[in-house]
Amino acid sequence: MYLTHLSLTNYRLFPRLTLDVPRGLTLLVGHNAQGKTSLLEAVYYLATFTSFHASSDRQLVNLLATHEPLAVARLVADFVRKDGSHQLTCAIIQEPFGAVGTRMRREITLDGVKLTTPQALGHLNAVIFLPQMMRIIEGSPDERRRYLNLAISQAVPGYAIALTEYQQVLTQRNALLKQLNERGGDSSQLEHWDQMLAQRGAFLIHTRIRVVAELESWAMRIHDQLSRHAEVLRLAYMPSYDPAADPNGQLALKMDTPIQRSHVSLDEIQAGLLARLGKVRAEEIARGTTSIGPHRDDLRFSANLRDLGEYGSRGQVRTALLSLKMAEVNWLQERKGEAPVLLLDETLAELDPDRRADLQTFLSGDTQSLMTTTDLTQFTPEFVKRAAIWKVEQGLIK
Ligand SMILES: Nc1ncnc2c1ncn2[C@@H]1O[C@H](COP(=O)(O)OP(=O)(O)OP(=O)(O)O)[C@@H](O)[C@H]1O
Ligand SMILES: [Mg+2]
Repeated sequence: MYLTHLSLTNYRLFPRLTLDVPRGLTLLVGHNAQGKTSLLEAVYYLATFTSFHASSDRQLVNLLATHEPLAVARLVADFVRKDGSHQLTCAIIQEPFGAVGTRMRREITLDGVKLTTPQALGHLNAVIFLPQMMRIIEGSPDERRRYLNLAISQAVPGYAIALTEYQQVLTQRNALLKQLNERGGDSSQLEHWDQMLAQRGAFLIHTRIRVVAELESWAMRIHDQLSRHAEVLRLAYMPSYDPAADPNGQLALKMDTPIQRSHVSLDEIQAGLLARLGKVRAEEIARGTTSIGPHRDDLRFSANLRDLGEYGSRGQVRTALLSLKMAEVNWLQERKGEAPVLLLDETLAELDPDRRADLQTFLSGDTQSLMTTTDLTQFTPEFVKRAAIWKVEQGLIK
């Protein structure tokens, strides 16, 4: 799929910007703080409805506009996918709330029809690569769950909705566990929430098992090339409730053996998770919180059996991340039958000459790519010749 037109109003530093987006490769060139990353962020926001570096939607609204109680940032993308042309719009609204406060709300439409956020996910697909994404490999499990959820939500129907519902059930169940812990009471009240949690949770686990295996198979092949056959990259899904474990949660395998879980059916996962929740009930009441389930899952990256988060050198982690991102592009293309839009922020600056060359070769396909840089000389002349060059200057584009 590809974008044909993008229009931003009151978004970040852009009061008003409208652009026809070229079909192939675009290089966004400019000094620091001119709006390059913000532009990529806008496209990614329309794919995932989350920003990779804003903690709140409020930060996305132009600061000058937010001085008024009512302020609206508007993002509009026209794009073409297999089934034709579409228009996706998102209004990020700051509105008066209570006596003096304001609150944030969003309104999304696809071809004029209003959608909720989970419904709107997956229409426009994008893969983004940012320098700070080393955190996926080196950071906390939280970062990896977030990464996985955002990737899967774009490609697997129902995943975003199941995730939202799971989180709602989890909040309710935790409140009840806390109440039982503090005031005691009839613990059979948990049964209803256990059922709900196991049903949504099983779908998340079942999907993650498949997706991690698919991503791994792409990432392994790509990494083999990028590392010139020196490293075997592996992705290991580490579910907090493991359907491959025995009823007491024990695995009968040695540490480094890759675990096969794809044979376990959705129903088996659901029944197994429900049974485990029953087993750990007393313990969970004592702790006042839900201790197992997809909200505690992790994902591990290893090169030649060594954990990259703990032992990887910067270069190794960077290359593994590049493999992962290229894998994500291929995976989305395989799942959806067409390539996502690729967004690359300052990516070349971080890579050695060999990897730069690899990336430029990878980008020679027909994937629409938007790439930022402060320095055009990082690219080969042939590459620059193929690209549309946009100069980004204080929120204006030439
Ligand atoms: N809500 C907002 N309203 C107005 N300006 C904003 C808002 N959010 C961010 N900015 C400003 O936008 C500018 C551009 O940020 P951006 O990260 O897009 O720049 P960049 O071109 O990618 O720079 P760099 O090369 O340093 O990465 C920053 O100076 C920032 O302060
Ligand atoms: Mg930037």
